[in-house]
Amino acid sequence: MNEIARIRFAHLPTPIEELKTLSAELGGPRIFVKRDDATGLALGGNKTRKLEFLVADALAKGAKTLITAGAAQSNHCRQTAAAAARFGLGCTLVLNGSEPKESNANLLLDRLFGAHIVWVPERADRERVQMEIFRDLEAAGKSPYFIPYGGSNPIGALGYVFAVREAMEQSLALGIDPACYIFGTSSGGTHAGLALGARVFGYKGKVVGISIDESVDWLKARVSALSSDASELLGSRIDFNPDEIMADDSYCTAGYGILTEAEKSAIKLFARTEGLLLDPVYTGRAAAGLIDLIKKGVFKKSESLLFWNTGGQPSLFAAAYQNYLI
Ligand SMILES: Cc1ncc(COP(=O)(O)O)c(C=O)c1O
Repeated sequence: MNEIARIRFAHLPTPIEELKTLSAELGGPRIFVKRDDATGLALGGNKTRKLEFLVADALAKGAKTLITAGAAQSNHCRQTAAAAARFGLGCTLVLNGSEPKESNANLLLDRLFGAHIVWVPERADRERVQMEIFRDLEAAGKSPYFIPYGGSNPIGALGYVFAVREAMEQSLALGIDPACYIFGTSSGGTHAGLALGARVFGYKGKVVGISIDESVDWLKARVSALSSDASELLGSRIDFNPDEIMADDSYCTAGYGILTEAEKSAIKLFARTEGLLLDPVYTGRAAAGLIDLIKKGVFKKSESLLFWNTGGQPSLFAAAYQNYLI
C-alpha cells in the first residue's frame, strides 16, 4: 500500500456496542452500533475520519484556508471549521439558504470556530460561488484548499477504508461476524470508503447505504466511481461496478431534512431503549430504514448487524426540529 498523508486526531477505535434492548424489542437480529458519533472533533461524526486525510493533504500542499460548502445545518461544515481552527487554518463555508436570525446547533458552532460564512440562496449556485471565493482567496495569498461537499472525494473516502479494518478487528475480538454494515449515505464518501475497505480488507458481509436524499442509480454511479478512484491512492486501481454498490432509497421520499413519523419513532426508540442519540437528518433516517428492514424479515434472527452511527447530533438542537421531535 502507498504511504498516505494522515494526521491522527480522531478518537479511534470508536467503540462497538451491542444494542440488546433494541434487538429484543424488534425481535430481530443482534444489533451492534459502531459509535462513529464518538470520533472526537467538535462533537464527533463521520467527517472526522475523512478530515484526518483531507487536512493532512491540505497542510502538505501548503494551504492556509479551507473552503467547503453545505446546508445551513451541515455537520461536515461544523467539523471542517473545527479542524481548520485546530490546525491554524482559515475557513470559509458556503452555506445554502438565507441567513437565519438566530445561530443555533451546527451554525452556532461554525461561528464559534471563527468560520467565515457566505450564504447562497440556491444550492445550484454553490459551486460557482465557491470557485469565485477560491480565486479571491488565492489572489489574496490565502492559499485555499477546496474540500467538496461532504468531504466526499477519494482522499476523504480513505477515512472509511481504514474504518473497515478497525471494525473487523473489533468484530473478531467480540466474536461476531456482522452480516451487514448499514448506515446513512448522501454524498457517498462514507459509503465508498466502506465498500473499498470491505474489498481491501476482506469483509464478506453486505455494505448497505440507506439513502438520505439521492436515488439508488445516482449512488451506485457516484459511490463506485469514488471507490475506484480512492483505490488508486492506495496503490493499485480496483474498478468497481455500479451494481456492486448496495443502496436503498425507499426511505428518503420526504426530502432532505424533512423529519418523517417513522424517523421520529426510530429516534425515540433508540433513545428510550438504549439511551443512544441519533440525529434528525441522517442517522434517524438510516435507523428508520434499518427498523423497517428488520420488520420485513430481511435479516435472520441468528445474524448480527453493524449499524454505523455517523453522528450529526447537534442538529437535534436546530430550531427546525425542536417542536417536532417529541
Ligand atoms: C451525520 C451524518 N451521517 C451521514 C452522512 C452521510 O455521509 P456521506 O456524505 O459520506 O454520504 C453525513 C453527511 O453529511 C452526516 O453528516
